[in-house]
Amino acid sequence: MEERLINIKNSAMSQILGVEEREDIEQIFINFLGKKGELSLAMKEIPHLPMEERSEIGKLANEIKATLEEQINDRRQEFGKNKKDNSKQQAVSSKEYVARNKKEEVDITLPGNKPPTGSLHLVTQAIAEITSIFEKIGFTRVRYPEVEFDWYAFGALNFPENHPARDDWETFFVDLPNDPKKGPVVLTPHTSSGQIREMERGRLPIKMLNIAKCYRRQSDVSHTQMFHQFEGLVVGENITIPNLKGVLEYFVKSYFGEKRTFRIRPYHFQFTEPSFEIDVSCGVCNGRGCRLCKAGWLEMGGSGMVHPNVLKAGGIDPKKYTGFAFGWGVERVLMMKEGLSIDDLRILYSSDLDFLSQF
Ligand code: PHE
Repeated sequence: MEERLINIKNSAMSQILGVEEREDIEQIFINFLGKKGELSLAMKEIPHLPMEERSEIGKLANEIKATLEEQINDRRQEFGKNKKDNSKQQAVSSKEYVARNKKEEVDITLPGNKPPTGSLHLVTQAIAEITSIFEKIGFTRVRYPEVEFDWYAFGALNFPENHPARDDWETFFVDLPNDPKKGPVVLTPHTSSGQIREMERGRLPIKMLNIAKCYRRQSDVSHTQMFHQFEGLVVGENITIPNLKGVLEYFVKSYFGEKRTFRIRPYHFQFTEPSFEIDVSCGVCNGRGCRLCKAGWLEMGGSGMVHPNVLKAGGIDPKKYTGFAFGWGVERVLMMKEGLSIDDLRILYSSDLDFLSQF
């Protein structure tokens, strides 16, 4: 029995040391220490040995078992979670070490792992596209204050003080003292406040494109408190409605595509006369009518011929010069272009990467 146990130990030890794959260690464990393993079977016979041999053989068998378990655990660790642990690697024989490193050789021709990259927000992308469309026909992009005086946002735009039309702009007022001439401080509720700023620069003719953040007291599935508008203003001699129509047509075809058409409806704004509301044919149903548009048209926003009082407020002689203006929502045209029907527009500004990384 003693010889048998020694043989088992020697055979197990040589196999354990020669192991090359993690799985082989488990197989060795099963072969020797498993329920029907060689050592386990031998140990089952010990109780049947003659009394005088039993304790000595039992002790030897237990020692062998402990040694094998220890050796097997050591190898498990080398192959397992401590694979990258240098201290463990040093304990390995040099032959083993060379063999193992051969397997881990670096192939420098393999492509590397690309770090994740960001992308422009889809509203930023839309602003860039709109800008380039208008720049092609000579518009100059400008920027004016987002925190603005009431005068620029309303007063100079022909809104008498306390006029109910102001309510449509659901304005945020900033808690600052009023300016004696320009009134309270507000967050620009529309890009039209840039019209007067542009006129005040005193350069004619004007071909302005003002794209900016706007703020209104509204937050629901189709409104965010901060949104973007792009405002066009053209002022010069002999500027008429056909000029407005031409620019409108050019924009609709360039941005939405050749298939889309538009219509002009009469409307009212304090600062334009006449005023229009512009609709663009729905891109999903091509104007036939669908769930997104209902009657085939999607509302793009307002426009009109600049009111003489506005020109006057901007220091321009309305007898000599005329102009047109339009102000449309960036988020709105973006939705209309893609045929997107976003359940809740607020997701645009929620920093939700699952949503944003699609674009
Ligand atoms: N400022 C208007 C709005 O916010 C749009 C508009 C701009 C209308 C220019 C006419 C001319 O709804």
